[in-house]
Amino acid sequence: MDSPAVNVEGVTKTFITKSGDVTALQDISVTLVAGEFISLIGPSGCGKSTLLNIIGGLTSATSGKVLVHGAPVTAPPEEAGMMFQKPVLLEWRTILNNVLLPIELKSGKRESARHVNKAMELLTAVGLADFAGKYPHELSGGMQQRAAICRMLISDPQLLLLDEPFGALDELTREQLNLQLDRIVEGVHKTAILVTHSISEGTFLSDRVLVMSARPGRVIGVVNVDLPRPRTLDMMQTGEFLDLTNRVRALLESGHDFGEERISA
Ligand SMILES: Nc1ncnc2c1ncn2[C@@H]1O[C@H](COP(=O)(O)OP(=O)(O)OP(=O)(O)O)[C@@H](O)[C@H]1O
Ligand SMILES: [Mg+2]
Repeated sequence: MDSPAVNVEGVTKTFITKSGDVTALQDISVTLVAGEFISLIGPSGCGKSTLLNIIGGLTSATSGKVLVHGAPVTAPPEEAGMMFQKPVLLEWRTILNNVLLPIELKSGKRESARHVNKAMELLTAVGLADFAGKYPHELSGGMQQRAAICRMLISDPQLLLLDEPFGALDELTREQLNLQLDRIVEGVHKTAILVTHSISEGTFLSDRVLVMSARPGRVIGVVNVDLPRPRTLDMMQTGEFLDLTNRVRALLESGHDFGEERISA
């Protein structure tokens, strides 16, 4: 049998800081089969980015095991592509050259030149073909984020690690990018982990939504989303979708430490 795409087993992460130890994650286990899309949702500071960074090889777990396609993660895995809340494009490079950057860094300028057609195909797919020659400051935030999607996809990663990629965008732009992401992931059968604060975004895109508790982050519940694919925005209006989002919300509320600020209904 093939190894799972991602296997996280009993991961705990404690940061040692001057003001004391901070346990960000406690005993997290999750397995993804290839092609599966999951979301992580939970209160701010519950360790979502930390978990994504551990899977992406950017930081290590204090204890527990992380395997990507069967291999222990000790550095960023070849098959992983990451995307963050900010697009982090290089201001002095055109959009096309930003998209080509990972290839240039890994394999040099000649190889990067061979990827121009692919970069243009990706930019076309997200509606940015006419902006290939522009510089990042000439694009809106949503357009820059779309360029960042293309930069992530240029090296054809099998595993997408997405840390609130659309968090800073307005609701409608976000919905459009969610649709595009759904089509991209569906078409090429990629595995994806999305960190989000949006219940509807997580539900819309995922096969499973994992809800985490306040720090130290633990998985306190999983909501399976059996909606057919490709997903359509109309689905968000259905009773089934509302029911799923209500279940995520209820779990989220049960694991949220509202402290003094909780307003009773
Ligand atoms: N490098 C670090 N050193 C010390 N503590 C850290 C470090 N990185 C994260 N933490 C702490 O670990 C906890 C989890 O942080 P993390 O960034 O993973 O949360 P998050 O769930 O992504 O939050 P948000 O939703 O606000 O992005 C926080 O309490 C944070 O202060
Ligand atoms: Mg975070």
